[in-house]
Amino acid sequence: MTAKFSESDCQPVSLSSASEDDATWTHLVQSSVPGLGFLFEVTGKPWTAWVGVLGLVFAATIAGLLGFGGGMHHKYENENGNYNYYADFLGRSGTTASTSGSSNNCPSSAAATEIIAPDTFYSHSPSACTSSSLTSTCANPLNILSASSLSSSPAGMIMAAPSPSLDAALRVAREFDLPSDQAQRGVDEFLSQMAEGLAKNGTTLSQIPTYVTSVPNGTEKGLYLAVDLGGTNFRVCSINLKGDSTFDLTQNKVAIPRDMMVAPSYKQLFKFLATQIEAFLEEHHNEHFEATVRRRRLTGTTDQYRREEIFDLGFTFSFPVHQTSINRGTLIRWTKGFDIPDAVGKDVCLMLQDAINELHLPVRVAALVNDTVGTLMARSYTSPGKTETLLGAIFGTGTNGAYVEKLDKVTKLDVKNDRTIDHTKNQMVINTEWGSFDNHLSVLPNTIYDQQLDAESVNPGIQMFEKRVSGMFLGEILRRAVLALTKDSEAKLLQTEGNLIPSDSPLYEIWGIDTSFLSIIEADTTSDLTATKAALFEHFKVSNATTDDAQAIKAIGHAIAKRAARLSGIALAAILLDTKRIDTDETVDIGVDGSLVEFYPKFVDYMREAMREIKGIGEKESKVRIGIAKDGSGVGAALIALVAHKEYAIGQR
Ligand code: GLC
Repeated sequence: MTAKFSESDCQPVSLSSASEDDATWTHLVQSSVPGLGFLFEVTGKPWTAWVGVLGLVFAATIAGLLGFGGGMHHKYENENGNYNYYADFLGRSGTTASTSGSSNNCPSSAAATEIIAPDTFYSHSPSACTSSSLTSTCANPLNILSASSLSSSPAGMIMAAPSPSLDAALRVAREFDLPSDQAQRGVDEFLSQMAEGLAKNGTTLSQIPTYVTSVPNGTEKGLYLAVDLGGTNFRVCSINLKGDSTFDLTQNKVAIPRDMMVAPSYKQLFKFLATQIEAFLEEHHNEHFEATVRRRRLTGTTDQYRREEIFDLGFTFSFPVHQTSINRGTLIRWTKGFDIPDAVGKDVCLMLQDAINELHLPVRVAALVNDTVGTLMARSYTSPGKTETLLGAIFGTGTNGAYVEKLDKVTKLDVKNDRTIDHTKNQMVINTEWGSFDNHLSVLPNTIYDQQLDAESVNPGIQMFEKRVSGMFLGEILRRAVLALTKDSEAKLLQTEGNLIPSDSPLYEIWGIDTSFLSIIEADTTSDLTATKAALFEHFKVSNATTDDAQAIKAIGHAIAKRAARLSGIALAAILLDTKRIDTDETVDIGVDGSLVEFYPKFVDYMREAMREIKGIGEKESKVRIGIAKDGSGVGAALIALVAHKEYAIGQR
């Protein structure tokens, strides 16, 4: 068995493997200090093990005081036949721990954390462990963080012998590692695709001009309607902007029925949306509804609504649109599982306005907004201090970002002659549509599971970044990896005690596993992974999963999500570098929204970790302030409807 230190600059250490059929409590200790080399084993009851441990602590402390770095390894077996391995590194700061001839510095008391399988790291969640020495206790002895997560090594470490399923799972997990050099190449490529997208249409990173040329400062006021067609739900809201960075929001939310997403014609989908708007007005603005819609219906009047009777509506439409003005834009392509071919190339505002008009509602589609633009606007309206937000990003069903770019860099627009563009601030919000970054896979990782998922998606070859990052896909990647291990005759995942998977398990259904499953198992810090087992029952219909099975699935889920977070860091880093705001601003504000950033533990931490590894960012990453812009798309759409309303009012004079 090979063990490795958690600190990247420490050298591997060999652990002698103890026989798997040792008596109930076995304690095996080995020092890795060259020349010190002692080894003893205490076999018997638990207390004898701890006597051994204390002896070792003493010996190692003396060694440390004398200036030897010491690496100690300990193995325990409990009554259930489970093995735990501990390795602690004692010694003075900067002392050397070495076993293989070469030496490297290990941080002081850098108790390495890990090891289960050959060449594989395990670690405790730092927060789950109380630090120091061999008596470290961990609330979660087998909380696996994965190989590359060990830079923040906690003090204290436990290792458990791998079962075949865990062993195989760890191998799969490693396929999802995204090393620093690959992240750096990702950023370089992202920067070049950004530049290309600003210069011409039809590029992989679309860089869509939004015609929004300023961001709010919190003083905006008024009552607006907003609707949000995202990936999963349709929301209708009314937002009262109070002018002091706060707002009141009333909303209705419905899940979009699957058959609407692939309806034979766009008319069905937009009729469904208009009907939801009607129901919302009737429920939440009943007086207005009675006075306008119902009165007209009762009297059969077809008079035009007066201007003051009409609600301005911001339409958050979270799909790639070729925007030509603040309330005009044609659908470029569907994403996130939608597929209604006759909508492509049509103006989305007109499609919604027509459906609204059919129901004779007093609503004008005033602004077209991508959810990322809404997030940017909402964050800027509500964010603390005077800092204008640079970027709005979504990590939910899909992923995307919109940022403030210098207008003169948007060379694909005829900026000088376009009278609809306000040049005052020489800036425009650009919707990157980064879900389609690197569709040709020059830098993105591409495991067999990514390949299979893409081949069976409704849009093979596109949204390749999104397919590795966003909530719609992570559950499906996991499902494929788990399924493969259940069929593997050696790994025998979920098969050790007979086949635990019922034939109607969602494990057998494409898109059967929701990404929320990954968040639940990642957050599980129980020692026997109780929450993971419960989630396996709820999401896979698997009862009686063993702790090994749960660990294996948790390890893969962790690796998939961590890769997603690190990939997200690439996009953020590139935008920080492109705009140079990381060098010029004291604080760079970023607004985010979506289920992954909201619910996946440490998603933002892993994203930040990747950003720090990028040339030109490094420590400056700490200048970046990332905040959730809750309800961003609704509030943002209202804010843009407000801008549009002002422009419209001026135009009407
Ligand atoms: C998809 C859409 C994009 C949206 C994102 C987040 O990538 O194409 O427009 O912003 O999902 O919802």
